[in-house]
Amino acid sequence: MSAVLKDVPMLAAMHEQDLDEVMAIENAIYTHPWSRGNFGDSLRAGYLCRTWRLGRELVGYFVLMAAAGEAHLLNLSIAARHQRSGHGTALLREAATLAQKHHAKQLFLEVRPSNLGAQALYRRFGFRKAGVRRDYYPSHVGREDALVLTLSLA
Ligand SMILES: CC(C)(COP(=O)(O)OP(=O)(O)OC[C@H]1O[C@@H](n2cnc3c(N)ncnc32)[C@H](O)[C@@H]1OP(=O)(O)O)[C@@H](O)C(=O)NCCC(=O)NCCS
Repeated sequence: MSAVLKDVPMLAAMHEQDLDEVMAIENAIYTHPWSRGNFGDSLRAGYLCRTWRLGRELVGYFVLMAAAGEAHLLNLSIAARHQRSGHGTALLREAATLAQKHHAKQLFLEVRPSNLGAQALYRRFGFRKAGVRRDYYPSHVGREDALVLTLSLA
């Protein structure tokens, strides 16, 4: 599949009313999904939460935190049936643009070492390894490290 989008979805602010659909995707694509409370907290904290819809259909979403010249991408997700069609790349571009608008010079994210698909997306986008957080994620057997990746937005 090509990572060039044919139909371009709309980016919009995420609201509490989106959370049923968000949770349906979240629970379907992660072994350790965020809870509804995690999304609610992010909305209340004023994090930059966005949906990505093709017509009415929720294709994906992200949660971004921007402060003090840095941004952290806390969640980036594409519904299973829409993966490998360029949406992840397009949504990541939107997140990076939004981070820049909030004066971030650097974008950070964490990814599981076992998540080779996401790593391929991030590397292709220009992210580089910045470090490792030991025992960051829950996993089926104890904990899993996180790779910390960073992208310069300057
Ligand atoms: C990771 C994720 C956001 C990627 O979204 P996507 O829409 O599938 O990504 P794209 O179609 O833009 O892919 C761009 C490129 O990234 C790489 N890539 C993406 N997913 C991949 C996979 N599963 N395996 C290998 N390479 C992959 C490929 O190079 C791909 O280009 P190609 O399709 O032309 O080969 C999506 O798979 C997802 O939501 N996964 C589950 C949740 C998740 O892991 N989120 C990230 C947590 S850090």
